[in-house]
Formats: sequence, structure tokens, C-alpha cells
Amino acid sequence: MKDEAKNSTPESDSPCPCQSAEPADSGRKDTRRDFLFKIGLGLNVVAGAAMGIPLVGYVLSSVFKQPVLDWVSLGSVDSFPEGKTRFASFTNPVKREWDGATADIPCWVRRMSGNDFQIFAINCAHLGCPVRWFEESKLFMCPCHGGVYYEDGAVAAGPPPRGLFQYEFKVANGELLIKAGLMPTLATPNV
Ligand code: FES
Repeated sequence: MKDEAKNSTPESDSPCPCQSAEPADSGRKDTRRDFLFKIGLGLNVVAGAAMGIPLVGYVLSSVFKQPVLDWVSLGSVDSFPEGKTRFASFTNPVKREWDGATADIPCWVRRMSGNDFQIFAINCAHLGCPVRWFEESKLFMCPCHGGVYYEDGAVAAGPPPRGLFQYEFKVANGELLIKAGLMPTLATPNV
């Protein structure tokens, strides 16, 4: 009885501090860990979006973005004599403020007769160097790797894998117009 009375004292009923402190501290740790996990997750989502959205936009833009093509005048038809090939230039319709002189795009205009033209891009079909027209030999020549083209733009010699790129053209109100906006390349030869 004496022992029972001893065990039922108020001091012996209260829980030991070392037992009650453990669960409370563990709960706080869990809460802090959850909070940090959520912060980390949020930062990862933000970083992933920052890198992923421009990347996806870049990939999809090539699918949905239509090339800007526009009819641009090369001047009066009369400024191109029949049977001759002449140098001409036009302003790129997708010109930006900072383009400066690079917005002026050169090309070669061959007028066979009447409204029968061939308008050649100046860039070689090999690696894009500007080709020059030589009236005496009636050849276009590329200074870079010796590419040579006949007057109709077909390959005569050298490494070019195809003839000169040509612009679509039309004659309207006495003016020669070409469809410009994108430089033709081996990947997009018909734009
Ligand atoms: Fe013209 Fe190479 S770029 S031959």
C-alpha cells in the first residue's frame, strides 16, 4: 500500500519531459522539410518553364510561322535590255531598323526577250558566296571555290550541287517585280 501511494503522487503521473519533447520536435522537422521540398519543387518548375517555353516556342515557330514573302519592284522593265544580264538590288521586305545597308539585297536579272526573264539570287548554291556575271564569257563565276554557272543559271563546273536559285517574278504596269523576303537555300530552294 505504501508503494501504491508513492506511485500515485502527482510527480509520478506527469509524463517524462524526455518522452514528450521527441514527437513535438519531429513534427516541426517534418513541417520544415515539407516546406523546403515545396520551395524546391516550385523553383524547379519555374526554372524548367524558363528554359522550356522558349525552346518549345523556337521548335514550334518553324512549324507555324509562315515566311514573309512580298512582291518587290526591281524597277522599270525597260531598264533591263533584251539579251543582257544586269545587276539589280531591292530592299528586303522583312527589313528591320538596324539592318542598315544589309537590307539591300543584290540579284542578277537576265532578260531574254519581252517579258521573259530569269532573276537569280546572287548567292552561290554551294556555300553562298556572291557570284559575278562575266559578259564576255557569258558565265557566272563564284570566287570562293571555283563554282561556274551558264547564263541560264545551270551549273557549268565546280562544287555547286545545283543551279543558281531563282526568284519568282511578274511584270505589272511596266515594272519588274520579284517575290522576295526569304533568301533561297538548299533547304528551301523554292521560297
Ligand atoms: Fe561558290 Fe563554293 S561558295 S563554289
